[in-house]
Amino acid sequence: MPVLPQRYTVTAALPYANGPVHIGHLAGVYLPADIYTRYLRAVGRDVKFICGSDEHGVPITIRAQKESVTPQQVVDKYHALIRDSFRDFNVSFDVYSRTSSVTHAEVSSNFFRKLNAEGKFIEQTTQQYFDEQAQQFLADRYIVGTCPNCGNENAYGDQCERCGTSLSPTELISPRSMLSGAHPVLRDTKHWFLPLDAYEPWLREWIIEGHKSDWKTNVYGQCKSWIDQGLHPRAVTRDLDWGVPVPVPGAEGKVLYVWFDAPIGYISATKEAFPDEWELYWKDAGTKLVHFIGKDNIVFHCIIFPVMLKAHGEYILPDNVPANEFLNLEGDKISTSRNWAVWLHEYLQDFPGQGDVLRYVLCANAPETKDNDFTWKDFQARNNNELVATLGNFVNRAAVLTHKFFEGRVPERGELLPIDADTLAQAAEFPAKIGELIENYRFRDALAEVLNLARLGNKYLAETQPWHLIKTDVPRTGTVLHVALQLAAALAPVLHPFLPDSAEKLAAMLSIPVGDWASAAQLNALPSGHRLQAAELLFAKIEDAMVEVQVQKLMDTKKANQLENTPIAASKENISFDEFTKLDLRVGTIVAAEKVAKTKKLLKLTVDTGLDQRTIVSGIAEHFSPEELIGQQVQVLLNLAPRELKGIQSEGMLLLAENADGSLALMQPGKAVRNGSSVM
Ligand code: MF3
Ligand code: ZN
Repeated sequence: MPVLPQRYTVTAALPYANGPVHIGHLAGVYLPADIYTRYLRAVGRDVKFICGSDEHGVPITIRAQKESVTPQQVVDKYHALIRDSFRDFNVSFDVYSRTSSVTHAEVSSNFFRKLNAEGKFIEQTTQQYFDEQAQQFLADRYIVGTCPNCGNENAYGDQCERCGTSLSPTELISPRSMLSGAHPVLRDTKHWFLPLDAYEPWLREWIIEGHKSDWKTNVYGQCKSWIDQGLHPRAVTRDLDWGVPVPVPGAEGKVLYVWFDAPIGYISATKEAFPDEWELYWKDAGTKLVHFIGKDNIVFHCIIFPVMLKAHGEYILPDNVPANEFLNLEGDKISTSRNWAVWLHEYLQDFPGQGDVLRYVLCANAPETKDNDFTWKDFQARNNNELVATLGNFVNRAAVLTHKFFEGRVPERGELLPIDADTLAQAAEFPAKIGELIENYRFRDALAEVLNLARLGNKYLAETQPWHLIKTDVPRTGTVLHVALQLAAALAPVLHPFLPDSAEKLAAMLSIPVGDWASAAQLNALPSGHRLQAAELLFAKIEDAMVEVQVQKLMDTKKANQLENTPIAASKENISFDEFTKLDLRVGTIVAAEKVAKTKKLLKLTVDTGLDQRTIVSGIAEHFSPEELIGQQVQVLLNLAPRELKGIQSEGMLLLAENADGSLALMQPGKAVRNGSSVM
């Protein structure tokens, strides 16, 4: 038997407080971390689950500029939004703090001071890009340019989002300032560097030798490739005015790099919430530290933060860093800036009381080993087929039949037939199997086993048919329902980490506590004669209309993005004033309109031009109905040479504006004018 850790510290990546949380964050980080922690509590381990908002760094200040508010207003708004949506989604943090807290300023400053005093940093003056117009150094995302690796013209100063390469501003080709668009100049500035290269031998031993078999292959692979490419000193300070001030003399106008202060946030949050015990959770060798993160955070949690901890010397190191891949949405990469996401707070509004459905779908489809796709169709299908038809159905049948045949009391258990004993024996295996999968960070497989336990129950009911049996053998029916109810009761504790609300509802229906993990394997939670509460449906079918609304929302987003991204046509060559005056533009009123037979696009319009009533054929039948056009004043080009369309003589042209999405707008005068008025 391996020795169990004495306690656990589980962290979930601190979300940037520059926007709400979406399903990609949940599937990748917060949900697996919550399941893991809830499981540890259910098996009686000592665990602290730590998170908070990451409130520093350029992502915050850029968002503030975009919204024309202060960085403090940005973080206040999103911290509250994120904290509340996590709470409503039943993410069971022991603390949800924020890196703007007083404790954090203190803990991160002390961390920096200790490393500085012990000579663990290199101080170096280097040249950094400076925006002379904005009078500011351009760190990280304040600078964009062409990626030297893939040619993407909008690569950031710290990373190219197209090819994933990690960059430094000086590597960008034709850099430009995000603040003013200006070409930045190079200026001298002093910074503190963490010499990662000095820790390379230690990292090789700790990760490459030490964690080859227990870290996920994607995590291990990224670390190995980073180390193999050669590590370099990395700046841990920035010239910015938002962040934790560098706490040493001669560092005015400088703050700690956000990736230096944020992970220390895990420690400060623990200290803030548990001022007397926090050190046990960070400094005691009996503590197992696990970081749940997304794959874009691997290098920070596996290399940079561990080097910081190692350099500090008093802290434990992560035992594992289970990073997930990304979740896509309806085939496209989730993106905050393109609003391509399902936002948690919006989901909770649109599907009140159904947080568990999202927890189920995101876990069942979690991007554990490769990127995965979330679709609303799959969401609906999994709810209807798996939660309603499998899990809910089993529990419901066992409870309803007990109410119907035994007045809602758990019937006596008579002699067990082989099918009963066999079913109970199989069921008893599940808790250990599910627990082992969870401990190995295989949450999808673990959840699939929970469903398999319900399937076992459904199979048992299908084979024993208590609804028929009742007609011939009441005691035997009682035994069958007794066994089925024990299975239903065993579902509550193993379901609880995944779907806490539903597990609690199930336990309430059976009138028992949810129960701990060990109790699930005993299959004796319900004594004979125990009274059940009224049977309730655990899950409700999701109708087409519910998901169609969501799909429509995404279509609208796509359209809005298209509009925003379609380039505006370049201007045409100049014409002379004389050429312009040749155009005879007038206001007229459409007095009749009808579709041109056998065409899809053409409308035959009769326009009162003030001079005459003339026919104009226009290709707008797919955009306007004849009825909505009649009576409208429009602008027309009168002197376009007449031409024949589908056998109809068209004399002139209707003016229209075409939107980027292809929709059309009539060009109408801003107020009624006399027909025949010139447009000039
Ligand atoms: N805010 C970062 C992100 O969203 C994660 C920070 S994790 C921490 O990518 F360790 F630095 F806190
Ligand atoms: Zn690139």
